[in-house]
Amino acid sequence: MRHFLMAMALIAPMAYVAQDAQAQSAEEKVVEARRAYFKLMGANMGPLGAMAKGNIEYNAETAQLHAGNLAAIASYNPTPHFAAGTSNADMPGKTRLLPAAFSDTPGLLSKLKDFQTAVAALQDAAGGGREALGPAVGKVGGTCKGCHDDFRAKDF
Ligand code: HEC
Repeated sequence: MRHFLMAMALIAPMAYVAQDAQAQSAEEKVVEARRAYFKLMGANMGPLGAMAKGNIEYNAETAQLHAGNLAAIASYNPTPHFAAGTSNADMPGKTRLLPAAFSDTPGLLSKLKDFQTAVAALQDAAGGGREALGPAVGKVGGTCKGCHDDFRAKDF
């Protein structure tokens, strides 16, 4: 009995993981990775925005850390996470990616480029005090909005 219970304790979580992986379609996996990629952007922009606004105290090291993370994200190639068949027209309720991402891929890539350019400037400015950080964060934020306006639906 004791051995049976121990075996169950080991098998049960594994069975759960296997089932979970099976239940997720290839498209759902694409969406999950894409949303995680954007979540990471948000997680690093949050503290930078708060510092720029003075909601939390400016700290050069922290600012540089988050700017460096954004630069790492900006150098990552996310195109596999924009696979065909994964817009909100294909998967309502699961993603906010507008079909425009596929009908106007050059537009999407150009918004991505704007983001990369602004992040490079942010990386130079982040450690130079709140006065330097503020405008640079504002510019990056503008590139987030620029892409959201054209390629992200307001709601699911
Ligand atoms: C090149 C276009 C583009 C850029 C640049 C961009 N985003 Fe987005 N973002 C999107 C799209 C499209 C979605 C919707 C993804 C989905 O639902 O599949 C999204 C979703 C998000 C989400 C929600 C993720 C979730 O949980 O579903 C957050 C947070 C986010 N973006 C933050 C940011 C921040 C912060 C920036 C700038 C630092 C940024 N984004 C720059 C296109 C962009």
